Amino acid sequence: MNTSWAGQLAGFLRILRDTGLTHLPGTQKTPLEDLLQEVESCTNCRLAKTVTNKVFGQGPIPSLVMLVGEGPGREEDMTGLPFVGRSGQLLDRILAAVELTRQDVYIGNVIKCRPPNNRNPLPDEMEHCMPFIRKQIDLVGPKFVVTMGAVAARSILGIQGALHSMRGKFYLVDGRYYMVTYHPAALLRNERYKRPAWEDWKMLRAAMNRYKADGTLPVADKINILI
Ligand code: URA
Repeated sequence: MNTSWAGQLAGFLRILRDTGLTHLPGTQKTPLEDLLQEVESCTNCRLAKTVTNKVFGQGPIPSLVMLVGEGPGREEDMTGLPFVGRSGQLLDRILAAVELTRQDVYIGNVIKCRPPNNRNPLPDEMEHCMPFIRKQIDLVGPKFVVTMGAVAARSILGIQGALHSMRGKFYLVDGRYYMVTYHPAALLRNERYKRPAWEDWKMLRAAMNRYKADGTLPVADKINILI
């Protein structure tokens, strides 16, 4: 018999394992924490070489509403948090206008690493990162997903066209209702987009409130995502 302190501990742990206890209570990772770790250790594309902090996402789990942006900018890269720069400040004001706060929504991005000088993500970078956001949406479990900007809309929904032709309706995919709207950065650049964007967010607010009141879901275009 091993009578050393370490030997006795090892024996005790073996007994616990044999009873099916493989993790100390409260220490087992959730699937979302596993995904976070996968993202943190990802080196699948060149962006991993220049990133300061990967921006995984933030918000309650589960969330009724999830917002998806394109990818981190400078402030997000510095802090590791989504939408903390100028776009984020505008996003906070938009959320307040539809009676939401950051504590009510989960915010993520298609791309987890900032492309140098805020250039658009390249096709292979998008391809490597897409499985993460798809999994993230499933794990957060929203009923409503808002894609902000054309890059997020096209990549998440697999639809094409200019943003104004994709917005103004819901898309139903796997039981979730997706809405396409302008990216907050586009609203900062161009006043013209503010009115249609406001219509979009009001559409979300009405759908959300109806769903909360009696479970009614909006009329939507049903689409199958092939990619
Ligand atoms: N723009 C995005 O698309 N995402 C962020 O997190 C910040 C700015």
